[in-house]
Amino acid sequence: MTSSAPNKTPIASCLVVGGCGFLGGAIVNSLLQKHPKCRITAADIRLTNQLADSNVKYVTVDITDLSSITSVIENAKPEVVIHTASPVHGLGKEIYMKVNVDGTKNVVKACEATGVKVMVYTSSAGVVFDGSPLINVDETEPFPIIPYDSYNESKAIAETFALEANGSNGMLTTALRPAGIFGPGDRQLVPGFINVVKNGQTQWQLGNNTNLFDFTYIDNLAIAHVLAASVLLHQHATTGVSDPSVDQKKRLDGTPIFVTNGQPVYFWDFAKAIWCHYGVYNAGSIVLPRSGGLVIAGLAEIFSKLMGREPGLTRFRVKFSCAHRYFDIRKAKDLLGYEPEVSLTEGLRRCIEWFKAEEEKTAAAAASEKQ
Ligand SMILES: *[C@@H]1O[C@H](CO)[C@@H](O)[C@H](O)[C@H]1NC(C)=O
Ligand SMILES: *[C@@H]1O[C@H](CO)[C@@H](O)[C@H](O)[C@H]1NC(C)=O
Ligand SMILES: *[C@@H]1O[C@H](CO)[C@@H](O)[C@H](O)[C@H]1NC(C)=O
Repeated sequence: MTSSAPNKTPIASCLVVGGCGFLGGAIVNSLLQKHPKCRITAADIRLTNQLADSNVKYVTVDITDLSSITSVIENAKPEVVIHTASPVHGLGKEIYMKVNVDGTKNVVKACEATGVKVMVYTSSAGVVFDGSPLINVDETEPFPIIPYDSYNESKAIAETFALEANGSNGMLTTALRPAGIFGPGDRQLVPGFINVVKNGQTQWQLGNNTNLFDFTYIDNLAIAHVLAASVLLHQHATTGVSDPSVDQKKRLDGTPIFVTNGQPVYFWDFAKAIWCHYGVYNAGSIVLPRSGGLVIAGLAEIFSKLMGREPGLTRFRVKFSCAHRYFDIRKAKDLLGYEPEVSLTEGLRRCIEWFKAEEEKTAAAAASEKQ
C-alpha cells in the first residue's frame, strides 16, 4: 500500500544558504529542475561553482554576522530559506560552534524578522549517535545525554534551535538528517575510500562486515530538501496556523526527518564497490577483528602523538567502520513523498566517473605546466 502523496505548493522564491557548497549546489540544481519558475538566490561565504542560469543570483554572506544574513534576506525577499551551510568534518569545536550554532541562530533570527514563510535546515543523522549501534532508528530516538563528538553536538544544538523557531512569526520549519552523503563534488566520504586504494591498503578489513550502513546520494538528498520546502509551503498556505483537524503525525512543521538512500549495505561492501572501479577485486583479504583493531589503533594514536603526526588508524575509525548505522526513512516517504530516485549503484557510478574526470583534468594541467 502506498500512502497518498502530500500536497505541495510551487516555490516562487528561495534562498539557499551555502548555495555554492557540495549539497547547496545540488539543491540549486534540483530547484531549477523541479521549480523552473523559482527565483533562486544562492548565498555563500565564497562564490565558487557558479551556474550560469538567469534564474540564479549569487551573493556573498557571512552567517556568523547577523547583519550580513539579514541584509541578504532583505534584498532577496525569499518565501523559502534552505540553510545548508556547514563546515567540513575534522575541524575544531570552536568553528563548529561558531558556524553551526551561532550561524544557524543568526539565519533563524533573520528569517523570523523578515517574514520568511518556510525554513528548511540541513541537520545530520549523526545527532543521535552516542557510540552505540543505530539499528533502523527513527525520529523518536533521543539525542545522546553525553555528546559523542563536537560536530554532531553542534548540529544537534542548531537543529533544536531551527525546530523551536517553528511557529514564530508564522514561519514553519523542518530539519533533514542525512547519513553518509556522497556524490560528484564530495570532498569527504568517497575521497577517503579512494585514498585507501592510493595507499595500497585495500587488503585490510576491520571487523567481520556484518554491520549495515546507510549512504545517501547527493541528488536524492537535494530533492528531499526541495520536497520539504514545497510541502511546508503548502501547509503555510492552508493550515499553517494550528488547525486541530490536521493529524499532527502527518505534519512536517517543527519535526526532524531522516533522509538516506533507504538501501542499507554492509560497510565494506560499499568500500569494495568503490574499489572495483579502481580495478581492485580482492579487497579485504586480511580481516582484523574489531577488538584487535582497537588495540592497534590505540597504539597508533599514542605513537603518532609522540611523533607529532596524524594517525592513519584511529579508534574512532575502527568503531565507525564496525558499527551498525542505519535509519528508518518511512517518515520521509510519508510526509515528503520522498523516493530515492538514484540507486546506490548508479550514484556510485556517477560519482566515480566524476572523480576520474577530475583526476584526468589535474593530470592534464600538471602535464601542460611541465611543458
Ligand atoms: C557526525 O556526523 C557526521 C555526518 O553524519 C558523521 O560523518 C560523523 O561520523 C558523525 N560523528 C559521529 C560520532 O557519529
Ligand atoms: C509549527 O508551527 C505551526 C504554526 O504555528 C503550528 O501549528 C504547529 O503545531 C507547529 N508544529 C509543532 C510540531 O509544534
Ligand atoms: C561480527 O563481529 C561482531 C563484533 O564486532 C560480533 O558481535 C558478531 O557476532 C560477529 N558476527 C559474526 C557472524 O561473526
